[in-house]
Amino acid sequence: MNNARPNMPVAVVGLGLMGSSIVVSLLASGHPVIALAPVPGEKEPALQHIVDLLRHAEASGLLVKGLNHYVQRLRVTEDYNEIAACHFVQECVIEDKAIKKMVYQKIAAHVADDAIIASNTSAIPISELQEFVPAPHRFVGVHWAEPAYMTRFMEVTCGTATDLGIAEQVVQLGKSWGKEPTLLRKDIRGFITNRLMYAVYREALTLVENGDTTLADADKVFRYDVGSWVTLMGVFRRMDFMGFGDYITSFERLLKELSNRSDVPRQMSRMVAEDAKGVHNRRGLYTYNEEQAKAWEEAFARFNKDIYELASKYSEQQLIEAIPYYEENKLSKI
Ligand SMILES: NC(=O)c1ccc[n+]([C@@H]2O[C@H](COP(=O)([O-])OP(=O)(O)OC[C@H]3O[C@@H](n4cnc5c(N)ncnc54)[C@H](O)[C@@H]3O)[C@@H](O)[C@H]2O)c1
Repeated sequence: MNNARPNMPVAVVGLGLMGSSIVVSLLASGHPVIALAPVPGEKEPALQHIVDLLRHAEASGLLVKGLNHYVQRLRVTEDYNEIAACHFVQECVIEDKAIKKMVYQKIAAHVADDAIIASNTSAIPISELQEFVPAPHRFVGVHWAEPAYMTRFMEVTCGTATDLGIAEQVVQLGKSWGKEPTLLRKDIRGFITNRLMYAVYREALTLVENGDTTLADADKVFRYDVGSWVTLMGVFRRMDFMGFGDYITSFERLLKELSNRSDVPRQMSRMVAEDAKGVHNRRGLYTYNEEQAKAWEEAFARFNKDIYELASKYSEQQLIEAIPYYEENKLSKI
């Protein structure tokens, strides 16, 4: 990918929830995009969905040109021959190792030797997936968050065979897409975000399962405590604000009380057994009628825009640049 440039053609393989949204992010960043539908019958609905998302991106002020400009740079296809000129290919098919293997083999058979293949897997180790491609050193985890065109999160993860230089190139690409990429040099299970979030999910589900709290109260606490600071600061900056003495006391007293279970919480097994898909089919941990599910989905779309703007207003870079000390420090280094 030595000829990497903002408008180089890129491909996304798999056009479900995340794939479609990643397509929009890449189009908005200036790339011509080949969007590959790997299953029959997906092409037309995916095109419609991507155009709808582009409209949402436009309404949110994320597109610098008119909608048509981006639609013209989009090609939705079922034909792997069309990804031949793409030097970056983002795989985004279902979380199934056998299906991902089959997809990688098709991608690798059609792209140039210097193409980078990236997986959006949330949970399968990159080291295992890269065994399926002929150039594993050019294979990397690129984990996005939904909606991909409106979130700054991006985890770049190396497998054991990934060339660090390639991963660093992908980090630079991620920055050009307006992301705040992190680079994980070692392929740890769950990467960073899922390790943090599953610790929270486990504790919350256990508290509810034990009858110590309700779903609604656990949500309320998370929303109005963590939610009141988390877009500005992460875990460690928060600690710097709070001081350390209380943390020490809580570590001593509380850690031994927290769940360290390794089974799947019963409530989750029940949801899957009942084919509950939450707001998407109105069967979830909460109950929804059609209007309520729609209202939550619409609120999330509006909220994404607001939070994106709020995070821009408080970006680390802006905060640092506003501080005279940093300016002096910068000047003294010149
Ligand atoms: N949904 C999220 O918020 C999220 C977040 C981060 C990572 N991911 C990861 O992204 C990937 C895709 O997730 P999603 O939520 O978009 O899933 P999805 O179910 O919405 O879409 C999956 C896509 O996989 C493809 N596919 C399905 N069956 C296939 C087959 N037999 N052969 C080839 N392709 C097939 C189709 O294009 C389908 O649209 C997964 O690896 C998932 O873990 C999802």
